[in-house]
Amino acid sequence: MPANKKLLILPGDGVGPEVMREVRRLIDWMGRRHIATFDIAEDLVGGASIDARGVPIDDATMEKARDADAILFGSVGGPKWDSVGFDLRPELAILRLRKELDLFANLRPAVVLDPLVDASTLKPDVVRGLNLMIVRESTGGIYFGEPRGVEILPSGEKRGFDTESYTTGEIERVARVGFELARKRQNRVTSVEKANVMQSGLFWRQTVTALQQREFPDVELSHMYADNCAMQLVRAPKQFDVIVTSNIFGDLLSDLASMLTGSLGMLPSATLGAVQPSGKRHALYEPIHGSAPDIAGKGIANPLAQILSFAMLLRYSFEMNDEAAMIEQACSNVLGSGLRTADIMAKGTAKVGTSVMGEAILREMDKLNAAG
Ligand code: IPM
Ligand code: MG
Repeated sequence: MPANKKLLILPGDGVGPEVMREVRRLIDWMGRRHIATFDIAEDLVGGASIDARGVPIDDATMEKARDADAILFGSVGGPKWDSVGFDLRPELAILRLRKELDLFANLRPAVVLDPLVDASTLKPDVVRGLNLMIVRESTGGIYFGEPRGVEILPSGEKRGFDTESYTTGEIERVARVGFELARKRQNRVTSVEKANVMQSGLFWRQTVTALQQREFPDVELSHMYADNCAMQLVRAPKQFDVIVTSNIFGDLLSDLASMLTGSLGMLPSATLGAVQPSGKRHALYEPIHGSAPDIAGKGIANPLAQILSFAMLLRYSFEMNDEAAMIEQACSNVLGSGLRTADIMAKGTAKVGTSVMGEAILREMDKLNAAG
């Protein structure tokens, strides 16, 4: 049981620290049961870092991030920092991490666990058994494209602008991640853009098509406009296996897809860089919910998305597939036993807070560990 897995934990703001506490308990549990130990560092990001250090993430923390084998991120932002200015906002912490570590492939699964089929606002038949994966490009597009800014026109009127831009290489590398994932799933990729309106969208479509013909002829590829995709996700989400899309469309569609599962509080994500010649791959894991300032500090946040993000970390960064599956099973079993946090409450279930949910997961882990 070598203790060389370097983990950087960045709880951030709002509910981040509360839900991260439950992951720390799970990590302690794994140590106590001699399942795994980690070399853990923890640091500030987002508003917490702005308050203490004046910046959303400082260079020393970036250095630790570069050095880590995996980063577990909580969430950042909140009304407290609404007026810090665009160049200092808490969200820059996650954007800087994605950009500087070149974390270009953001994997956002939307899985409907059976006990939660009634938590969705959609009819049970529409979402039962849903298991789709959105692969969102996360270091390019309009999030980072130049030029961007606000200028004053000769007329005196102002103009705000951003640039959507994708190179062949940027499209191919994220599409490759999508095709490779599809091969391990149902072997189907839907590439999503607005080729009917955007030049960069048409280029995206052509590039993905050429890549598929060249490298992935065995994978089924279809194309969809982003607006239609939003509609199809609500109408018949089970038609999708892997969706590959740009940064901005992926941002929108993954929030949409998350609600198919009933709650943002359930969904983990992984953001991966390229495998380097040394074999190392930068990777960051975070729940897709934000800092939820409205419920922060009340002890009622759902810790499952953060816990499931840790499970993804074990699977993708440390190839600890059995341990990841055990955590996912524990989450499912606890929900099956009728415990719910407020966000996924349903008739006939028992409402519990963050730490009771965390304890229940540990009890379930003990059972599964003893059985396995
Ligand atoms: C997400 C978030 C971020 C994004 C924000 C916090 C910058 O919405 O991870 O989806 O837009 O990428
Ligand atoms: Mg988002």
